[in-house]
Amino acid sequence: MIGVTTLDEFIIDRQDDFPFATGDLSRLLRDIGFASKIVNREVNMAGLVDLAGAIGSENIQGEEQQKLDVLADEVFIKALKNGGEVCGIASEENDDFIAFENEKSKQGKYVLAMDPLDGSSNIDVNVSIGTIFSIFKRKSEVGTLATMDDFLQPGTEQVAAGYVLYGSSSMLVYTTGNGVNGFTLDPSIGEFCLSHPNMKTSESGKIYSMNEGNYHLSPQGIQTYLDSCKKEEKTARYIGSLVADFHRNLIKGGVYLYPSTTKAPNGKLRLLYECSPLAFIAEQAGGSASDGFQRTMEIKPTELHQRCAYYVGSKNMVADIEVLLK
Ligand code: AHG
Ligand code: MN
Ligand code: MN
Repeated sequence: MIGVTTLDEFIIDRQDDFPFATGDLSRLLRDIGFASKIVNREVNMAGLVDLAGAIGSENIQGEEQQKLDVLADEVFIKALKNGGEVCGIASEENDDFIAFENEKSKQGKYVLAMDPLDGSSNIDVNVSIGTIFSIFKRKSEVGTLATMDDFLQPGTEQVAAGYVLYGSSSMLVYTTGNGVNGFTLDPSIGEFCLSHPNMKTSESGKIYSMNEGNYHLSPQGIQTYLDSCKKEEKTARYIGSLVADFHRNLIKGGVYLYPSTTKAPNGKLRLLYECSPLAFIAEQAGGSASDGFQRTMEIKPTELHQRCAYYVGSKNMVADIEVLLK
């Protein structure tokens, strides 16, 4: 196409970035782009076709599932199973990982962990929501079924990660470890087009994002940090959709906080498909991510749905928080 670079063109152009690339990862990223266009369509129609609201079931983490949570989960699983590049998927919406049993998928070299729909509490009120994904090379032998060890890898082992934001316009942002690039969906042609090449975040920012209803439940260091944000007249911004809060802070500069609280001693957010992938993107954009004590990317998961405290964004702000938590 003249004048614009579509996601598919960009992925093909960049294929040489991966050593020994055979095109599988490129195809996988394109499948993700395709699935997210379908989810985007459904998200946009939610108010019209009875897709808003709860489905009446809970996921493994005791959270009420929304119709769109389940639909997004199914769309991604179907697209990726058909693609055959991943041998298995772990998802927020499924207790166990799925090991694809079809021959084509068993040949897949990768596994994917995902939060198919992030920010579900915002679906019914027309506020931005998202999808988060993380891709690893499998540990098990190609040709066999995916195993738990394929998924329980630290963020440093990710070969790609990204998110899709279904917002005032929809965007797909991803990294393969060579910087971060953002694509905006042009609905008139149904293509993600490169709109934010080589995204960088500032070392310090004006914005802090936390559910301050949790102030009194948070560690003393976090209370001190929030007090200092007010003294310094920083700007408070919190949507309650991690993808949207993260995306805004990435562009404008700022920090997102979800500490451990007395109610949720391990924090709320999930390491594998929320914290690790966004940590990879933050770092690739010049920011950082930590649980307050350790680099998020270095935490080795022991469970699929493991939670952790999370501080992510401009690196000086994350560093200030770490000092206060020591
Ligand atoms: P999900 O909708 O995938 O369960 O994730 C919700 C997460 C995240 O998107 C958001 O930042 C956070 O929960 C909000 O939590 P609070 O309502 O506790 O602020
Ligand atoms: Mn989420
Ligand atoms: Mn979710």
